[in-house]
Amino acid sequence: MALVSAKEMLIKAHKEGYGVAQININNLEWTKSVLLEVEALKSPVILGVSEGAAKYMGGYKTVVALVKELHDYLNITVPVAIHLDHGSYEGAKAALAAGFTSIMFDGSHYEFNENLEKTKEIVALCHKVGVSVEAEVGAIGGEEDGVVGSGEVADPKECAIIANTGIDMLAAGIGNIHGKYPSNWAGLNFSVLAEIQDTTNGIPLVLHGGTGIPEDMIKKAISLGVAKINVNTELQLAFAEATRKYIEAGKDLEGKGFDPRKLLAPGSEAIRQTVKDKLTMFGSVNKA
Ligand code: 13P
Repeated sequence: MALVSAKEMLIKAHKEGYGVAQININNLEWTKSVLLEVEALKSPVILGVSEGAAKYMGGYKTVVALVKELHDYLNITVPVAIHLDHGSYEGAKAALAAGFTSIMFDGSHYEFNENLEKTKEIVALCHKVGVSVEAEVGAIGGEEDGVVGSGEVADPKECAIIANTGIDMLAAGIGNIHGKYPSNWAGLNFSVLAEIQDTTNGIPLVLHGGTGIPEDMIKKAISLGVAKINVNTELQLAFAEATRKYIEAGKDLEGKGFDPRKLLAPGSEAIRQTVKDKLTMFGSVNKA
């Protein structure tokens, strides 16, 4: 199966009451580990790529080629979408041209009407070629690749207007934050989430900042219309910890332990384990 848009997998997840993971990728090891794990678990997946990660990996075309070729080489049969995460207006167009199958246009930092107009334009461009679109209302808290959000809670009325542009999924701030949650975090605002789902006529909702959100909150969010959950930092932490342990144990100094295929193996395995934990928590195992 070729790479797909995120539309059908999210409609199915929304209807059947589970979440599809957006796992952000950073390099070859990330991409390979995620693809191998989702195939083993027969789960759909959305591979998230931020503009910063795309730049790091050599541009949008390089990322598309990497994902496509690995996908074919590894004989992946589960639905896989390649999705621009927090795309700018220009970034959305560039990623679309490079072959991304799903685009997030994040216009949440614009004044609302400008966000609306730009979202409409991106929807028209993407839908012409069967590419799904995510929009955002109400910034997500924390910092990701230099994009800083204040953590505001979205206005359900604005969500309804943006949902009417024909977007396929909506990210709405409900107190979620990118990165680790502080110990005094107030938790997700479920009453606003319920209101947003009500006013948007059942559009699949997206929960950003999936790192560290406890299982009971994830399950409740899914029951209130969340069909896509983004996870990035948690995999980075798992990769770094496993790699640190390997080096601290002096394994890189034993034999050919410095070979990147050995040095990066524990980190890659930690990515697979984290993906497994998340897919199990979100309920998407065997849903491909
Ligand atoms: P975390 O890094 O907090 O998991 O958030 C990921 C995310 O929301 C990507 O858009």
